[in-house]
Parts: sequence; C-alpha cells; structure tokens
Amino acid sequence: MLKLDGKRILLGVTGGIAAYKAAELVRLLRKSNAQVQVVMTHAATEFITPLTLQTLSGRAVRQDFFDPNDEASIGHIDLARWADLILIAPASADFMARLAHGLANDLLSTLCLATTAPIAVAPAMNQQMWLNPATQANNQQLQARGIKLWGPDAGEQACGEVGPGRMLEPSELLARTAKQFSSQILTGQSVLLTAGPTQEPIDPVRFIGNRSSGKMGFALARALIEAGAKVCLISGPVALTTPAGVTRINVDTAAEMQQKVAEHIDKCHIFIACAAVADYRPQTIATQKIKKNQAEIALTLTRNPDILAEVAARDTPPFTVGFAAETERLTEQAEEKRRLKRVDMIAANLVGAEQGGFEKDENALTVLWEGGSKNLPMARKEKLARSLVATITERYYAEKHPTKDS
Ligand code: CTP
Repeated sequence: MLKLDGKRILLGVTGGIAAYKAAELVRLLRKSNAQVQVVMTHAATEFITPLTLQTLSGRAVRQDFFDPNDEASIGHIDLARWADLILIAPASADFMARLAHGLANDLLSTLCLATTAPIAVAPAMNQQMWLNPATQANNQQLQARGIKLWGPDAGEQACGEVGPGRMLEPSELLARTAKQFSSQILTGQSVLLTAGPTQEPIDPVRFIGNRSSGKMGFALARALIEAGAKVCLISGPVALTTPAGVTRINVDTAAEMQQKVAEHIDKCHIFIACAAVADYRPQTIATQKIKKNQAEIALTLTRNPDILAEVAARDTPPFTVGFAAETERLTEQAEEKRRLKRVDMIAANLVGAEQGGFEKDENALTVLWEGGSKNLPMARKEKLARSLVATITERYYAEKHPTKDS
C-alpha cells in the first residue's frame, strides 16, 4: 500500500460528470494516510454532494471564502499555506481557463493563486473541448508555469463520444500523488542560486552586459522546487517569470549580486552559480551621459569579484556548483576551472554557433566532480535542469557535506 503519511492534500473538485470519481479518490488518499481537505466549486456540487466528500475526508468541505456555519474554519491564505499539494480532480475546461488567467473569483482559484505548494490538474471534459485551441493554449500556459498536468486519458466519454478528455482513474491519481512526494529528495534543503547576466554601468544610460537569458538558471530553480528544496534565486536583469515557490531577489551588477549572495549564503546547503557574471566593470561610472565629442575614448575596466570562488573559499562552504562555458577543450578547461575555484562540481558546456548555450532553449552539459563525470545529452533546458538537479543531489548526499544536517 502506498503511504502518504500525514501529507496534506487539498483536493479541488470542479464541475463535471467525473466529479463522482472524487469520492473514490478521497477514499484512496485517506487509506494512504493523507490528510484531505476538499474544496468544491459551486458547479461541482451539482454532480456530487459536499456531504459525501465530507464524510469520506473527515473534514468539512469548503466552497466559500467564509463558512458561516463554522467559526473555526481557517481563512483562505492559511488554507493555501496548509497544503503540501493542490490536486484539482476533475479539472473542467472552465477551471483550467480561470487558472491560466490567474482569476480569483472563487475559493478554489484564489487558493491556487495564494499557494506555494505544487499544483496538479487532472482534466476531465468532452474531447472536442479538450482539443480546442483555447484549452490547449491554457494547458500549455499552465505547464510553462510548472503546474503538473495529470492526464487526460483517451477513451469512451460520458457524452457517448470517444477521444481524449477522460479523467485519469483515482488509483492512477493516487500513484502520481505518491510519486510526487517520493521524488522530493531535497526536502528540507535550502539552495541559493544565481542566474542571468549582470549589467555594469558605464554612464546613466549605458552598460556592459552579455547575452545570458537566464533560462537555464530559472529552469534549475523550477527543478529544485520540484525536488522539494527551498530556493532563493538571485537574478540579474531577465525577462522571465519567477517559478512558483521561488524567492527571487533582483540585482543589476556583479557587486550587488556578491552582496546579496553574502547576505544569504549562511542559510543555504547548496550554492549554484549559474549567472553569467561580468568579469570586469568600468573603473569609474560617468555621472552624466558620455557625449560623442572625441574620435576615440578608452574605458578602463576593473576586475569584478568572483562570487563562486569566494563562496567556495569560505571556512564551511555549502556544496558549490559552478558553470563553465567554453569554446574548445571543454573537459580540460572546465576541470581546471573546478580545481582553481575549488568548487565541488562544474557543469560545462560548449558555446558557439553549432552548440546550445546562451539564448537557446536547448543545451548539453558535461558535469565534473572530484574523481567522476557525467554527460547530460542535448535536451530542452527544463529537462536538462531536472537531470542536473538529480546529479547534484546524488553527489551532495554522497559527499555528506558538513552543512547537510544543520
Ligand atoms: N562566476 C561568478 N562570479 C564571477 C564570474 C563567474 O560567480 N565574477 C561563476 C559563474 O556563475 C559560473 C562560473 O563562475 O558558475 C564561471 O566561471 P568563469 O571563470 O567566469 O567562467 P568563464 O566565464 O567560462 O571564464 P573565462 O571567461 O575565464 O573562460
């Protein structure tokens, strides 16, 4: 029997014929020792009574922001914090659309906005509704935001049609829920992560920058959250949305990044330097815009602090992971960088016309550590980030880092 030992599942039930299956799902979750709080939309109550779900879950079903019959009922923010997982089963086309657009016009959609817990949706709808480009666009948007899509299955539908749109069976949803928790191998671990470029000002309107998009760092932040870690992301200027559950601190320059890292490093178990930090900054920043009144001007640059090397040189460093972008002799140069900076692990990639890297959606990495290496083949950055997190986790626990148990 799968054990969910006290895990807190907020089960959202929305309107659709598959809502009757929520009863079996609640029963299975409870049998696996999960705590289940059911939140229904009004449409859902047309298909199954709150009393049924209340009896099976052992808790009063919530539908509205405030329950006049229950003075002790907790407010919506506390309910959002209570959940270890929000599972919406069945998720109607309407609810998925509302979730995709961030609406908060009932209790369930508000909880989804207010939570930092992972959210999974189990769609159930007519096959044409599922295949409709509007639903598919919503679906893609939800997945891009890290919301898990469980199903739908294909097969015979309540309306007599055959096609994709059936809700996954309760036993399958239970298995996915259990898997979701068992994959959280970094639960209780804090990770500090740098990402994106830095911008080093020349004058009030100009800066020295680079082409880092921040995509790899943000994909890593998301993969770390999926693995159960607490993630603080210090990001240079990028046009990316913060993955759910991540604490983000924005910086512009290497000096600001160094300062924010110094402020947060004591609390972290793992430090990952994914930012493309500018190696140099202008020695002086002109207070006024520099005019083009000379044929040539020279810019004197000063070396920036190496944030990663500084962290690795601390008395009790966290497990440190750096990146190396090389145009040739990848392993050799990355290994040298690893030894020079004294970091636990380096993730190296080739950059150049033929390769992934900056601004691209795909990349491949060679990961090096003391006495070992692993090749992570070309893949989309989301997938690559998950593989890298798995590799980091393996080494982190294998090395029994001094700060691990703190
Ligand atoms: N890094 C850092 N602070 C810096 C420079 C780099 O933390 N001032 C980190 C990056 O986040 C990355 C790794 O160090 O994890 C990259 O090291 P670096 O020596 O800058 O690599 P390259 O830019 O590849 O080095 P070089 O330009 O010498 O090839």
